[in-house]
Amino acid sequence: LRMILIGPPGAGKGTQAPKLKERFSCCHLATGDMLRNQVAKKTPLGREAKKIMDQGGLVSDDIMIGMIREELKNNKECEGGFFHPSFSFILDGFPRTVPQAEGLDAMLAERNKPLQHAVELQIDDSLLVERITGRLVHPASGRSYHRTFNPPKEHMKDDVTGEPLIQRSDDNAEALKKRLGTYHAQTAPVVGYYQKTGIWKGIDASQQPGQVWKHMLEIVEAGP
Ligand code: AP5
Ligand code: ZN
Repeated sequence: LRMILIGPPGAGKGTQAPKLKERFSCCHLATGDMLRNQVAKKTPLGREAKKIMDQGGLVSDDIMIGMIREELKNNKECEGGFFHPSFSFILDGFPRTVPQAEGLDAMLAERNKPLQHAVELQIDDSLLVERITGRLVHPASGRSYHRTFNPPKEHMKDDVTGEPLIQRSDDNAEALKKRLGTYHAQTAPVVGYYQKTGIWKGIDASQQPGQVWKHMLEIVEAGP
């Protein structure tokens, strides 16, 4: 499976991708999680990225394409990494600009393994504030919960590890407004890019997570 998920902040990319990973034994690579990893490690890239992320902007295309290229080159095993031997992956949060989409296509063309599905999670901005401000995450794994819609079994603790859950520093109404602006200006054109190549599919992401998952499965099982 070679697939990307496109959608605004809170659309459900990080909620659906781990389910795909489990179902299809493929790798899940979330560029937001990779960047947050760098922030936690306080690397030079992390320090730079934190400012941009908290302001709702985008890290440069060169850095992001380079990051994905490294992952492809390393061809690591799934755990915490990427790219299964069979070259099966879900990208969550990349590509986010047309140059990133072109960069990805070029990398995959080198291997003769084109993308099969570009799935857009479609949802109205008005529904996203509640999703984003109520989100809780387990930083180490990237697992996310919601105070109301998907509460953890134990208050503020990850179901799997029991470790504390936190709120992302960009999950506030003000930063969200900027992230949405960035999405409409820079990422929405990526949808048009994949509509032209013919691999685009849309899902109504305002539905219950189980319904969204059902549509996701239908798309993948129908094949490219
Ligand atoms: P990233 O981490 O990718 O953030 P994002 O795109 O803003 O997306 P989110 O993680 O907020 O949303 P999601 O769709 O994953 O929602 P989730 O499933 O968790 O990127 C962060 C930043 O990094 C960017 O702003 C940028 O600065 C930088 N960056 C990353 N990639 C980059 C790139 N390629 N180029 C440049 N810069 C890059 O769901 C949200 C909440 O809603 C959860 O609480 C969940 O439980 C709940 N929920 C999910 N589905 C449903 C449902 N169906 N019904 C009810 N509640 C639901
Ligand atoms: Zn996410």
